[in-house]
Amino acid sequence: MSLPPGFLDQLRDRLSLGQVVGRKVMWDNRKSNPGKGDLWAPCPFHQEKTASFHVDDRKGFYYCFGCHAKGDAISFVRETENVDFMEAIQILAGEAGLPMPERDPQAQQKADERTQLITVMEQAVQHFRLNLQTAAAGEARDYLLRRGLDAEAQARWNIGFAPSNGGALASLTGKGVAQKQVMDAGLAAESDRGGSPYDRFRGRIMFPIFDARGRPIAFGGRAMDPNHPAKYYNSPETALFDKSRTLYNVQKAREAAGKGQPLVVAEGYMDVIALSEAGFEATVAPLGTAVTEHHLRMLWRIAPEPIIALDGDTAGLRAAMRTIDIALPLLEAGQSLRFALMPDGMDPDDVLKSKGKAAMQKLLDAAIPMVELLWRRETDGKTFDSPERKAALDKALREKIKLIADPSIRSHYGQAIKDMRWALFNPRKGGGATAKRAQWAKGQNAWERDLSPTATSKSSALGTGVAAEDDMRISVILATLLATPAALPTFEGELERLDTANPDHTALRDALLRHAEAADVVQAMRADIGDGPLDALLGQKHLSVIPSIRKAGDLELATMCLTEEFRKLAARRGHPAEIREGEEEITGETDENLTWRLRRAAQAVDSTIKPESKSDDGDFEVADNGAKLSKDDRAHRDAIWANIKIEKSK
Ligand code: UTP
Ligand code: MN
Repeated sequence: MSLPPGFLDQLRDRLSLGQVVGRKVMWDNRKSNPGKGDLWAPCPFHQEKTASFHVDDRKGFYYCFGCHAKGDAISFVRETENVDFMEAIQILAGEAGLPMPERDPQAQQKADERTQLITVMEQAVQHFRLNLQTAAAGEARDYLLRRGLDAEAQARWNIGFAPSNGGALASLTGKGVAQKQVMDAGLAAESDRGGSPYDRFRGRIMFPIFDARGRPIAFGGRAMDPNHPAKYYNSPETALFDKSRTLYNVQKAREAAGKGQPLVVAEGYMDVIALSEAGFEATVAPLGTAVTEHHLRMLWRIAPEPIIALDGDTAGLRAAMRTIDIALPLLEAGQSLRFALMPDGMDPDDVLKSKGKAAMQKLLDAAIPMVELLWRRETDGKTFDSPERKAALDKALREKIKLIADPSIRSHYGQAIKDMRWALFNPRKGGGATAKRAQWAKGQNAWERDLSPTATSKSSALGTGVAAEDDMRISVILATLLATPAALPTFEGELERLDTANPDHTALRDALLRHAEAADVVQAMRADIGDGPLDALLGQKHLSVIPSIRKAGDLELATMCLTEEFRKLAARRGHPAEIREGEEEITGETDENLTWRLRRAAQAVDSTIKPESKSDDGDFEVADNGAKLSKDDRAHRDAIWANIKIEKSK
């Protein structure tokens, strides 16, 4: 049913998103400012203790700074009540006291026509299925058996047969269906010479295509004759069938995905059937077309990260690249794709037949993220031995990344590509001390001294001392980002996860995230949250000695400082959390990684929080500022260092 224009706006005007959301969350009263329509709560879409879920009641939008869930009242009800769009509208209209509009008569008539066509299609499915049992279908049955589909499987998929002399039209009209309806259903067509209508499907094995509610809307017919020019012949577009919005097997796949099976996208009918029969039941395929934007939206409504199973040939790869181009602008947090590459020119059906289920499972488990396939497309089989070639690669990748609409995803893609680029162009390159680094270390030294337990009051060293130190580190992080907002894209993720106790810090963190893309970040923040929190932070005298804050706009210094501060915060805060997690795991299943992780957590604390403790492990390097750096620390820092150089040389 369609809604009259303006109905949704009217509905939104009457509703308070705060009220709708308020039934599902506990507002954080300290952080919220209801007078301004500014509401905060722990996010209802992911587990958390802090309030990173923000409702802008005036604009009617919500956004979670933790998991990036976002939307309006309608999407909130859809997500939390697990209902479809119309049901959500009905719920909200009831709440707002807005009567649902009458169905318009034209839409009603269309709906009735569709219902009639569905009945015709149901009769056709039965007709073709009966035909598969006749003597004329002996060859077709043998063919299906050879392809591993016994009588039960044939029935499960409602597979049928259209003999070479047709017969569907005659059979259906014989049962009282109007000829026009058979044609409207796409089962018969007017002949070119204006003669009487003829059967569209002849000499083919018939695969019915069902919509998301399990109603037959089209057929795919596979030619029995291997030399026939059209191997598959599909129903034309009808009132029921829109290829670009239909996925084969979508209903069963959704059910299986709901039970936790990975959602797989294959290329054809036989792949879907073979995968499903082998136990990979959450499998769909487009119908002889490339994957469209509609398809992707359908897939993402089922699962956040569908796996595209690629036929291992050039056509398969080309199709994947087209899919990437369509997907890039649509990417959002929790809405991406993976790609499973079938080996040696095989399709999923071939892999299952020749290598078995376990091999298929392995291929699906090894599915690569989209960014990696993007990278492979541009780099596989190429050499980058000249500046011109490197520049061409940069250009090609930048063009692709530009297609991504979501700023946060775009920056993460940029970062991932930078990492891969660095690994390609700088195979093991040591990082030496440079003047810049010495300068940074000197400033770092000074401020580390201020933080050392002897500098803070003895009595507070154990209690508030730790909190005060965290507070200081967060001040340094925020002030550094304010001084050099260009560092924001790189540290956005860390900033999002930053737990802040001080309300000023929280306000600054959230405003930094909100305005990360602004031309003048600081000005945008002042306009948003006022001068208070910024002035309180920047008024702290001791911050001015830190090079990354004093030298505003110096991206290298900022990056070094931020890397270090985030790492130290994470090391200390991560330590108890890791151990707690570890304990939980001990009581459950044993985890090979556990001891390793606990050791890492302890090591990280040792090497950052207690720089004075001597270790007899010879694998530590003493940095210019006296801090000990483990091999991993050094590699991490060198990697960041190299990235900055690449950025500058662009
Ligand atoms: P494939 O040729 O890979 O089909 O085409 P398949 O499913 O593996 O078929 P078998 O194993 O040879 O029986 C993939 C899909 O492309 C569409 C169909 O949807 C098919 O499933 N297609 C292919 C057509 O629409 N028309 C064609 O002529 C060929
Ligand atoms: Mn095949």
